[in-house]
Formats: sequence, structure tokens, C-alpha cells
Amino acid sequence: MRSIQYSRTGDSSVLQLVERDEPHAGPGQVRVRIAVSGVNPTDWKRRAAQTGPAELAEPIIPNQDGAGVVDEVGDGVTGLAAGDRVWLFLAQHESPDGTAQEFAVVEAWKAAKLPDGVSFDVGASLGVPAMTAHRALTVHEDGPLRLAPGALDGRTVLVTGGAGAVGHAAIQLARWAGATVITTISSDAKGALATAAGAHHAVDYTQGDPAAAIRELAPDGVDIVVDVDFIRNVGLIAKVVSTRGSVAIYANSGADIVMPIRDWMGLNARLQFVLLYTVGDEALRAGVEDVTAAAAAGALEVGDATGLPLTRFALDDTAAAHDAVEGGIVGKVLIDVAEV
Ligand SMILES: NC(=O)c1ccc[n+]([C@@H]2O[C@H](COP(=O)([O-])OP(=O)(O)OC[C@H]3O[C@@H](n4cnc5c(N)ncnc54)[C@H](OP(=O)(O)O)[C@@H]3O)[C@@H](O)[C@H]2O)c1
Repeated sequence: MRSIQYSRTGDSSVLQLVERDEPHAGPGQVRVRIAVSGVNPTDWKRRAAQTGPAELAEPIIPNQDGAGVVDEVGDGVTGLAAGDRVWLFLAQHESPDGTAQEFAVVEAWKAAKLPDGVSFDVGASLGVPAMTAHRALTVHEDGPLRLAPGALDGRTVLVTGGAGAVGHAAIQLARWAGATVITTISSDAKGALATAAGAHHAVDYTQGDPAAAIRELAPDGVDIVVDVDFIRNVGLIAKVVSTRGSVAIYANSGADIVMPIRDWMGLNARLQFVLLYTVGDEALRAGVEDVTAAAAAGALEVGDATGLPLTRFALDDTAAAHDAVEGGIVGKVLIDVAEV
């Protein structure tokens, strides 16, 4: 089968197209014929050894996310059968076998059934972005532990970076769950994307006084913040978060931070860090169920009309796909792996 792999970390030139033997599902595993592989920043960061080890014990097939069809079921697997359409998450976590290959073997619980009518493109876009967004929306002191229509009724959610992949999923999930959604963006074009995703209000954080603009929209402050860059946004967020509000911080722009402790203390505000790799099985299982339900309801669509433009690459162009994500392309990067 055709597979992309890297045997040493480095820039995207380490990604090679190779022929490998087809893997088989062991106990508790399924084999999935991959239709579409989704690319996220974590995939190139791991490849470039920005996260994870510089030295590799074995070749890595990159990419955590993907969608396809189960074609082999290992002993002891229940609830999945050959022919089921599925979406995958964390395929390459604690495994060398990601989704940039024609067949991926994964632990069965990392393959969730794709609801009828939900495309492989949506399925390959769910894993890292939607699961991270789900966690970011469900880790707050007074907030819900699960998302469903009505779960965030009456809450105001601020999503910083609403034109990003995680930001897009956070807007969609928060809106599906009933929140009033405010987002920050850096241009009118990105504002249009965030609004298409479902944000009620988009505030340009590069213009004027964005904190005052957000306060005008939410005089009592925002209850929940899903934040992409706390180092740069800490001042803004301190001015708009409500008393006992909380902030889920899921990204690291690479510096240390100085923050006004007394201001945050006065708010009784909560800072919650989120890293998908260590949220724990319970949170992942909750995320899979709720994200699948949101997808089934049509709340997690992708593409221009819903604010997440797609850019596609062929499997043998995976290096270019990684470079596009590393370069900060707007929208979602997908790799067409095989006709399924
Ligand atoms: N913790 C986790 O488990 C986890 C999971 C997924 C992703 N991440 C990390 O989260 C980051 C974003 O991932 P992604 O896939 O969503 O990337 P992305 O699609 O490139 O989106 C990032 C977005 O953030 C915006 N942005 C940057 N600085 C901002 C600021 N100060 N205020 C508001 N918006 C800002 C960018 O647009 P402008 O620069 O134009 O504003 C862009 O729209 C990456 O660093 C990734 O590694 C972490």
C-alpha cells in the first residue's frame, strides 16, 4: 500500500512516499481504508521535533485525523463492522501509524461511526479541532460537562481566532449548544468566515479598542473564553471575562507571560489549560459522542459556505500539505488518500 512516512525529524522534505505491507487489525483494533487525511499544526510540529522527540525509534506515518471505511475488525471489537464509515482521532498518538496511508490500524475506540450524510471531508476535519474545542467548552467551573442543544443557553462564549480550525469548531459547537458567540479576528475576510461558522459577533482585535467593543456586546462580561494565544490576549481577556468566568487556553505562541494577578484574583476567574493528548479517556469519550452528535445534526460542516475553506492535496503531496499548515493557510488542509 502507499504510505507517507518519515524516519528522521526535520522539515517537510523528510516525508517520503513508500510502499509498505498492509497492516492487519489485532485484538481491540480496526483497520480503516483511509479516504481523507486531515492535517493539523500538531502534525508538522511533531515531524519538525518542535513537540515530541528529535530522535525516532521507528518510522512515523504522520497525521492524527482522518476518515474512511472499516475493512477489518480485530478480536473483541464490538460496535464496529466492516463497511462502517468512521472518523478517526489521535490515530498517531502513542502509535507510529497516522492517517497518511491507504490503510491505518487504530484502537477501535479511536474510530467513531460517521453519521449518515456526513462527508469524509467533515470526518477528517473533526479530530484535533473539534475534540479540542469540545474540551475547551466543557472544562469550566459553572459550565456543562457535555455539549448538546441547550447546554450553553444563556452563556456568552468568546472564541479568539475564530477563523482558525479550532476556533471554527469552537464557534460551531458553542452555537449548536445555544451560546451567544463572540469571536476575534484580524480582518474583514476572517470576520466573514467566523460569521459563516455561526458567530453572532466578530470583533477585529487589530483595530480600535477590541475590549470595549466586546464589553459593549457583553456588558456583564463573557462567561467562557476559548483562547488561541493567551500570551498576546491576556490583557484583552482580563478586561472582558466575567466574574467567575473562565478561560480555556489551548495554544502556545512560545513565550513566558507576565499577568496582573490581582485583576484575575478579583474576578475569581479560572485559567484552564487544554492539551488534547492529556485530557484523559473520559473527556475523549465524552467529546467523541458529543462531536458525533453535532456532526449528525449538521452543525460541524466544513467548506466556504460554513467558514472553513478546504485546500486539498494528493497523498504524494503530503509535504506541501504540511507546509501549507505550517505557513498558516486559512481553513482546513485535507489529503485525498484513496477512493473508498
Ligand atoms: N492544546 C491542544 O490540544 C491543541 C489542539 C489543536 C491546536 N492546538 C494549537 O492551537 C493553535 C491553533 O491551531 P489551529 O489548527 O486552529 O490553527 P489555525 O487554523 O492556523 O488558526 C489559528 C488562528 O488563530 C488566529 N490568531 C493568532 N493569534 C491570535 C490572537 N492573538 N488573537 C486572535 N486570533 C489569533 C489566526 O489568525 P490571525 O493571526 O489572522 O489572527 C488564525 O486564524 C496551533 O498552535 C496548534 O498547535 C493545540
